[in-house]
Amino acid sequence: MGRCVYCGTNYGAIFAGTLAEIKERGKLIIGTEPTFPPFEYVNENNEIVGFDIDIAKKIAEELGVELEILNLPFDSLIPALMSDKIDLIVAGMTITEERAKVIDFSIPYFNANQAIVVREDGNFKPEKLEDLMGKKVAVQLGTTGDLVVSEIEKVSITRFQKFTDAFLELQNKRVDAVVLDEAVANAYVKTFPKFIISAVIDTGEKYGIGVKKGNTELLDFVNSVLSNMFKSPYDLLVEKWFEETK
Ligand code: ARG
Repeated sequence: MGRCVYCGTNYGAIFAGTLAEIKERGKLIIGTEPTFPPFEYVNENNEIVGFDIDIAKKIAEELGVELEILNLPFDSLIPALMSDKIDLIVAGMTITEERAKVIDFSIPYFNANQAIVVREDGNFKPEKLEDLMGKKVAVQLGTTGDLVVSEIEKVSITRFQKFTDAFLELQNKRVDAVVLDEAVANAYVKTFPKFIISAVIDTGEKYGIGVKKGNTELLDFVNSVLSNMFKSPYDLLVEKWFEETK
């Protein structure tokens, strides 16, 4: 990596993961953490599937290359992108100011809030974040859920790399609640009816695809694939008959 595919000059990390390099290598390498259904999870056939994976497939298809998915802990995704191990982060990652200092984000592609999940048969049914004061809460390390819970006073936090382990802890009554993104909470609660969502916290998050800082060519490409996906057949007709004639 880091070699100009045209002239062979070694430019350090600057050329890593450019469109030309991805095409030359014939595959797009994305990083994700797959305990996040329905965005990314491991199915019965041991394949990583989901909403994000379908988006990544579309990007790879538009590039005319194969898709390779690296399964990494969530808090390793940004370091992996920065050190050129992956071309993109596609992991339901919330666009935050802190993260945007070190990586670039695509246009937003999904809105999210945090949810508090508890045991259905228990008598602890928090209605707001403050109700977690003095309680034991499980989160995924390095997520926005982790940040939100870390702000609460006197809370005892257990940070897991996998959401599946966080829910095991809840099931085994070693924690009182799990805090995570609402759509994912819904997916877990649907599969495991012994858990319920007791509250949704309006955090107004938006997911973006992570791209290495300065790799504007790849960023523009990802944005164009996303914005095309957002367009309905009707939008495309309007574009064709009105906007393109301008
Ligand atoms: N949206 C949250 C965040 O960005 C959680 C994302 C977790 N994603 C995952 N694939 N485990 O911090």
